[in-house]
This record gives sequence, C-alpha cells and structure tokens, in this order.
Amino acid sequence: MASTWSPSSWRSLPIVQVPEYGDDEKLREVENQLSNYPPLVFAGEARSLKKRLADVCERKAFLLQGGDCAESFVEHHPDNIRDLFRVFLQMSVVLTFAGGCPVVKVGRIAGQFAKPRSSPVEELDGVSLPSYRGDIINDIDFTNESREPVPSRQISAYRQSAATLNLLRAFAQGGYANLEHVHQWNLGFLKDSPAGDRYQELADRLTESLSFMRACGVTVENTPKLRSTSFYTSHEALLLGYEEALTRIDSTSGKWYDTSGHMLWIGDRTRQPDHAHVEFARGIHNPIGIKCGPSLDTDDLNKLLDILNPENEAGRITLICRFGMEQAAEKLPVLIRAVEKEGKTVVWSCDPMHGNTIKAENGYKTRPFDRILKEVETFFDVHSAEGTYAGGIHVEMTGKNVTECTGGAQAVSETDLSDRYHTVCDPRLNADQSLELAFIIAERLKRDRPAAHQLSGSIEAIAGAS
Ligand code: PEP
Ligand code: CO
Repeated sequence: MASTWSPSSWRSLPIVQVPEYGDDEKLREVENQLSNYPPLVFAGEARSLKKRLADVCERKAFLLQGGDCAESFVEHHPDNIRDLFRVFLQMSVVLTFAGGCPVVKVGRIAGQFAKPRSSPVEELDGVSLPSYRGDIINDIDFTNESREPVPSRQISAYRQSAATLNLLRAFAQGGYANLEHVHQWNLGFLKDSPAGDRYQELADRLTESLSFMRACGVTVENTPKLRSTSFYTSHEALLLGYEEALTRIDSTSGKWYDTSGHMLWIGDRTRQPDHAHVEFARGIHNPIGIKCGPSLDTDDLNKLLDILNPENEAGRITLICRFGMEQAAEKLPVLIRAVEKEGKTVVWSCDPMHGNTIKAENGYKTRPFDRILKEVETFFDVHSAEGTYAGGIHVEMTGKNVTECTGGAQAVSETDLSDRYHTVCDPRLNADQSLELAFIIAERLKRDRPAAHQLSGSIEAIAGAS
C-alpha cells in the first residue's frame, strides 16, 4: 500500500490485467482529456446508494445488481437500455410486492466496458492473438489490428456511458417507472411464458391495490414514489487510467469520488491486497464491491476489509460471492464466520453466474439455469444456517430474448444456443429466466426475513415496487 493515497497512487504498485498500449503519448492525451470532462454521476448519488446499501445490512432491503457482462459499442441502442430497465422494474415488483422487500436497483451498465481475461492470448485455428479486453480497450474481431489497444476508445466509452445514463435517468424519473404502467412492462415475448403469466397476475393485484389507494386519496399525482424510482450504475473498476481521470473531489464533502459510476467493484482476478486495484479503490468514497471467488482466504478478506473499510462503515462494502454451485456450501460459511468474528458490516450478495460457466458440446460458453439456481439456493441456505442476511444478487442478464444460458421454464437447450447468442463476453440470463429467478428469490425472502421487516401487501410495498 502506498502511504498517501491519491487518484494516481496505484501507479507505483504491481498491477495485473492491464493492456499494453503502444502509444503512451496518445494514452496520456486521452486521460487528460477525460479528466476535464464532466462527471457522469454526482457524489451525492453515490452517498445515497451507500445509505440504501446500509439498509440492506440491516435487512431492510435487497440488492438487485445486474446487466451485461460487457457493454459493447455495436449493441448501443435505446431498445437494449429500455428492455434491461424494464426487466429490472419487473423483477423489483416481484421482489417487493411478492417478497415484501424493498429493492436497491444497481445496473451493470453505463460504464461496464473493461474485461479481465483468463488468458492474455486467444487461439483460433492455430492463430494466436491478444485477447479481447472489452470495447473500451480493443475490438472483438479476430484480427491483429482489431486486438490492438486504442486509447481513444476510452472517449467513446465515456460518451456511450453518458448517453446511456441520460436515458436511464429519464426512464427512472420521467414517468416510465410509474406503477400504473406495471402491465406495460411485460415484454411481448413474455406473454406466453409461465414467468410472464405469473407476472401478469401480480400486476393485476398491484393494479387493484393502486385503485384502492386512489380511492383513499393516495395517487401517483400526489405521491412521487409511485411514479418514479432510483436506479444506480456500477461497473468493474479495471481500467484504472480511465477511473483516475474521472475521480474528483466532491465540493460538498471534500472527499474523493470516482464519478464514472455510483458503485465500483474489484474483480476476482485483481483483488490482491497489495496491488494497484485495491489501492485505487481504498481512496474513493463510492460503495465498493469485492468479488469473492473460491481462492479468497480469510486472511486476505480481513486485509481487504481493513484496507477498504477501516471505519467499518455500513454500505461501503458489498461482498459478491461467486464460488460456483459445487463449492458454495463449503467456501461461503468460512468467509461469513471470519467477517462475523471481526464484527465487520458488509452486504452479502450472490453472483451465481461466474462460477457456473461451462462449455456446451457445440463449443458455446453457457450457464445452465439449474446450476445458477442451485448456487442461489445454497447462498440462502448458508446464510439462514449462519444467522446472517442473504442481502443481494448479482447477475448477468438482458431484457432481450437471447439464448445464452440453457434451461429455465422455456427450456433453452444446447442446440438452441446458436439461435440468439449475442453476448460479446459471458452468457446472460434472458428476460424470462431473470423473471423466473426473481420469483424464486421472492419466495425465499418471504420465508427467511423476519416478520417485522415484511412489507407484503402494505402501502410501503406498493410504493417501493417501482
Ligand atoms: C464479471 O463480473 O464480469 C467478472 C469478470 O467477474 P469475476 O471478477 O467475478 O470473475
Ligand atoms: Co462476466
């Protein structure tokens, strides 16, 4: 750890998963340019997210974090943003209205462009090229030229994030999230699915409750919470030059915030306590996620919590557990006990995607829905046994009807994968699978959360549902 933190103190420490830019001068120029651009988010918003996450620590809310594995320049389209936002709203209605629990909505969006890779090179038909590292760094085409890291891509990623965030803010505040539209959020292709049917039933009940509330004088016109929502953004803080350029002192608090997104996380491959990524994250005051994979031991976890959250502030740290279905039951209790023993306050969240990736026989990278569910169930079971709170879920998902993960009620098979396999990185849950997952989690929340915190059917549950 460097003794004094600054937005650039990470530069003197060891670092992994970074591209080798050939043109250093151009890189500095781009970073300089970015450092003069407007912030994408406000520090005050990051603080309000931290407060909402502190509510999760107290079992008063549930964290729903999700979106693309990697955003791409080609897929930048309003329909994709709208459809993801729509599924978020649907899942939130399910979790709040059926599960009786307010939802903190955090997208993997408006900045999720840089990817850590398991290998620095990719081989295809005997040809070996540098790996694709996300659109902010290089291009996915399998040619030498495309795989060259290009500094100006950071400007494109910044601009795309700004445009995406602009639309998200409009959706969240401008009337789209109005609960009276709860039926319209059901996507066309969900109309024939079991999860879609269940959602329609729930939406009917919610609409009935809204009519009753209207009769009592509580309307969308006089109650802003019924017609708008809070939606936060997040991404992996991997490309530190970009993150540094967007790190600014907040004039209200005098503290440093990374204004590229509300919440930043440290990936499973870059969480070495004495390395650059942890150094960078320790000085910014945003909420921070730490990916916890099977190789994380309790010593390192304790070190990370001491470095990143020395004051033990609630809402600062979210531990995003991604052990894989087979290892979760063994690994998770060990980490929970270590955290409890030290009296640390964290949000426990489950990423059931990254430990459950397999290669289908036809070569597609996929994730069977059953394995995903199994890890989620284990996550809830372990927390229930340890007396701790399973406070969130972190998923790769899209509002589109893709075929990337197998299984689910519509039974996507391995042969279906080639139909609509659009991800530029890892396979995502489609809208139907996402909604199905939300119903399953809602049932668990209803069962496991203390009665005192249950909101099911109450005015608070209705007001919090959008
Ligand atoms: C990711 O979230 O896309 C990712 C790479 O995760 P992890 O760091 O957990 O492997
Ligand atoms: Co991924």
